[in-house]
Amino acid sequence: MKLFLDTANLEEVRKGVSYGIVDGVTTNPTLVQKEGSDFRSRVGELCELVKGPVSAEVISLNAEEMVAEARELAEIHEHVVVKIPMIPEGVRAVKKLSTLGIKTNVTLVFSAVQALLAAKAGATYVSPFIGRLDDISSTGMALVEEIIEVFSNYDFSTEVIVASVRHPMHVLEAAMLGADIVTLPFAVLEKLFGHPLTEKGLERFLEDWKKYQASQKH
Ligand code: E4P
Repeated sequence: MKLFLDTANLEEVRKGVSYGIVDGVTTNPTLVQKEGSDFRSRVGELCELVKGPVSAEVISLNAEEMVAEARELAEIHEHVVVKIPMIPEGVRAVKKLSTLGIKTNVTLVFSAVQALLAAKAGATYVSPFIGRLDDISSTGMALVEEIIEVFSNYDFSTEVIVASVRHPMHVLEAAMLGADIVTLPFAVLEKLFGHPLTEKGLERFLEDWKKYQASQKH
């Protein structure tokens, strides 16, 4: 399973990449707005840092304008993946972009039939938003399961990016379902490392090692 960071923050990406386990980055207009930097140059910097796919979102709402925006974004760097909203005009744009060889990530996916349309149009990735479904008392991970089943029934090559991840259990459940990718906030990535028994165990080993060393001096 690939892990992407869901952030436009350079420091977070730098740190994540330094662990050797981050395969890509996803951004959205909200994450970009938090950073306040120039959008195009930030996308380029993220691509250089992660050396893997970086999703950057279009803001147009009609297909022709989306395609024009996508062409400009794709010129920034070879790693750019154009994020397109799951609306009818978006599906039209994805179809056109797939014929142009521009990679797409269909975002704001909340049903398996939406994912099916995106895959049929030739999307490279679809992003079901799990946390936002959980937020409205719907089981987000059930959607991931449905999409994986539909895609495998028809052998679609579109990859599933589990998005809107809120905590480590989302990552575990996505991995158990065999999702291709999870994109997660940096804070969730950091939580994946921790376990109180690991910390306690290490503390004990280091204390015992000190005792052992002291015993060797006599
Ligand atoms: C994914 O590509 C989105 O940027 C993201 O996961 C949205 O997450 P949120 O629901 O926490 O805003």
